[in-house]
Amino acid sequence: MMSGVRAGLVGVGPVGDAIVAVLKEHGFPLAEPLRVLATSCRTEVLCEEEFLVQETCEEAFQGLDVVFFAGREGAKGASVQWGHCALDAGAWCIDNGSDFRMDPNVPLVVPEVNMDAVTSTTRLIANPNCSTIQMVVPLAPLHRVAKIKRIVVSTYQAVSGWGKAAMEELQSQVPQWGAGGPVEFDPSVFTRPIALDCLPHIDRFTPSGYTKEELKMVNETRKILGVPDLPVTATTVRVPVMMGHAESVNVEFEKEISAERAREILSDPDQSPGVVVIDGPTQDPNAADLRKAPEELQYPTQADVLKPGWRDSVLVGRIRQDETVHSGLNLWVVSDNLRKGAATNAVQIAEKLIERGMLG
Ligand SMILES: NC(=O)c1ccc[n+]([C@@H]2O[C@H](COP(=O)([O-])OP(=O)(O)OC[C@H]3O[C@@H](n4cnc5c(N)ncnc54)[C@H](OP(=O)(O)O)[C@@H]3O)[C@@H](O)[C@H]2O)c1
Repeated sequence: MMSGVRAGLVGVGPVGDAIVAVLKEHGFPLAEPLRVLATSCRTEVLCEEEFLVQETCEEAFQGLDVVFFAGREGAKGASVQWGHCALDAGAWCIDNGSDFRMDPNVPLVVPEVNMDAVTSTTRLIANPNCSTIQMVVPLAPLHRVAKIKRIVVSTYQAVSGWGKAAMEELQSQVPQWGAGGPVEFDPSVFTRPIALDCLPHIDRFTPSGYTKEELKMVNETRKILGVPDLPVTATTVRVPVMMGHAESVNVEFEKEISAERAREILSDPDQSPGVVVIDGPTQDPNAADLRKAPEELQYPTQADVLKPGWRDSVLVGRIRQDETVHSGLNLWVVSDNLRKGAATNAVQIAEKLIERGMLG
């Protein structure tokens, strides 16, 4: 009989806050209060609850069963600096950052797609990039049926994907923009004002001309779907939206698949767990008055991800045949980057470990 899980969290930014929210909402079986760590000791309010934050150190991981890493990436980042201490202490580590995602010994997991990548020897699991997670959740069930040949994706990503500083940047710039004055910006966050502009620049540029975010979408999608040479090409764009990423996804398939069949597959929770299709004639009886067009189609937008029933889902709409190829589809895919794109996915991995008797 399970006695509960002793869990820790490293990082109290937007992702850390969302992890606390998801643990609470999902009724995650904590055996003791969540242990919260960051770079310094202080109190922090996360999801409306005050936590005593401890400074991260080797001893801080003792006795934990699982640690959610939601710190910054890189050599001075949380998981590179402290991941091995958590592993040595015997805990499972679920890392939101990119440091270990492409390590062949570390499974890169979206529970709806490839939970079987976790084996009896796994202790460290990488959470994919937010934009990759929301794309593979609806593509995996279509891939199972019709085998994907090529993916072309363009993203419309919220500022919260860059963290708290970026959210503050947009919030302070919008009134300046509205007042018609010059918009001040911090070049260490975005290279230009984000109010009200779209920047085709997420993460650093690489010598190929692609950004690191674009390459993450390519490489992570291949690893998760288990097709190392899958042709994937991405353009990632930061947009002046606070929460939620949207993606225009063009997919070409080996086998024939119609838009109707795709809609059927994606609407079936057994075949497509985590997907909500919002596509087709509107159910809103007032729509005709509002839009003067009763045949208007419904579609999800970034604002929808904040609706309670949809915060942990991937919303799919605008499912259309791509008439320019033998078998192709266009999809509009929307999700909450902090929830399914990070916190929810991490917590769902831990929940699956519990379900499989590997944790708790
Ligand atoms: N935002 C998204 O949509 C999103 C989506 C998917 C994945 N991610 C990834 O998730 C992670 C967290 O994102 P975020 O937006 O919440 O970041 P953030 O706002 O920058 O917060 C990072 C947190 O980690 C702590 N931290 C950083 N380095 C640390 C270290 N060496 N030791 C201990 N604590 C450390 C910081 O502590 P202090 O508060 O003490 O400075 C801070 O609380 C990042 O790796 C990000 O790439 C983000």
